[in-house]
Amino acid sequence: MTDGRSPVWGAVLLAAGRGERFGGDVPKQFVEVSGRHVLSWALDSLAGLGLLRSIVVVLPQGRAGGWSPPEGVACVLAEGGPRRQDSVRNGLAALDPRIDHVLVHDAARPFAGGEAMSRVIEAAERTGAAVPVIPVSDTLKRLEGGRVACTLDRTGLWASQTPQGFRRDILEAAMDSQADFTDECAALEIAGFEVSAVEGDPLGVKLTSQADLRLLEKIAPAPARRMAVGFDAHPASEGRPLVVCGCRLSSSGGLEGHSDGDAVLHAVADAVLSCARAGDMGVLFPPSDESLRGADSSVLLSRALTVAGERGWRVVSADITLIGEFPRVSRHREAMLARLAGILGVGPDAVWIKGTTTNSLGCLGRGEGLACIALVEMENRPG
Ligand code: CTP
Ligand code: MG
Repeated sequence: MTDGRSPVWGAVLLAAGRGERFGGDVPKQFVEVSGRHVLSWALDSLAGLGLLRSIVVVLPQGRAGGWSPPEGVACVLAEGGPRRQDSVRNGLAALDPRIDHVLVHDAARPFAGGEAMSRVIEAAERTGAAVPVIPVSDTLKRLEGGRVACTLDRTGLWASQTPQGFRRDILEAAMDSQADFTDECAALEIAGFEVSAVEGDPLGVKLTSQADLRLLEKIAPAPARRMAVGFDAHPASEGRPLVVCGCRLSSSGGLEGHSDGDAVLHAVADAVLSCARAGDMGVLFPPSDESLRGADSSVLLSRALTVAGERGWRVVSADITLIGEFPRVSRHREAMLARLAGILGVGPDAVWIKGTTTNSLGCLGRGEGLACIALVEMENRPG
């Protein structure tokens, strides 16, 4: 607490390192884990606290992109320096002057949990400085020349994580030190300040080497998934071109409809809208809309995908069943799959199409039209 007022928290997110141990073309904080940049995950976990007045994102010189600002919290950019402490200093200089308590966090830790962060905040408000730590569970060896020289006593040893929390004036005073350190807690130790240790988060792993990437992929929050079925049927219309699954198969023997009559793309679009809980084809494209007369159904499906995409949903896979006497799917399967995968923006293995008949039963058995059932699977990643 400062002057009896409620503490005002901000954060400095360190993303200006070169990631030399990780290697690769881009610094590790801009690598994707489970479909998002490591930096964006870290930023969201800070924003998720719902407590920060603003976050200073410290980036490498000349790099402004490669991340997406979270909702609900202001973000300020600062340029990093050659050493970690230079980046911290630049971040502090860009911090809103009303902020009197600071979290300093590694952008390379995408999944540090909110509970450990809350423990840090609580302890830092009480004591002025706090670091999250986790027990060192493996037996520690000192190596010399590739051989084990001795086993170290791990009693009292803990691994430190981030975010670490500080009263701003204490952190700024400690950062005046000229010594090299690998976390801010060490700067406070050197300057003679006390730091409280609180329980860290076993999932707050830092991306350091390529092997960590595999681990992080495994602990990434699973995206929400939904499946939905779409159905459509159109009567045959001799004089119209036959368009099925976005492919024009012949200039006659087609399907009746307000648009081009493509039952497959309509069924897929309905399933897409269903997954996203975003209405249905009738709502989006009312038959009364004259501008849709004879419309290319791939345009309609693309619009449905945009609506779903605005809600964060993207297609994972689609499975199509055509029901009727025509067209012969085996003859057109490759073209249909390529077209559908292209419209949906998925790989060729993510879609399949098959045909069946009603064994002469009813109107579909008499070739009077074509029906389609589409099963679509979609996912929505957090953030
Ligand atoms: N960092 C920074 N500025 C620096 C050095 C590091 O902002 N001059 C940041 C990194 O981007 C990272 C965090 O501090 O998010 C933790 O540092 P570390 O894991 O050491 O990252 P790098 O320094 O990038 O990696 P390496 O040491 O392997 O080069
Ligand atoms: Mg480093």
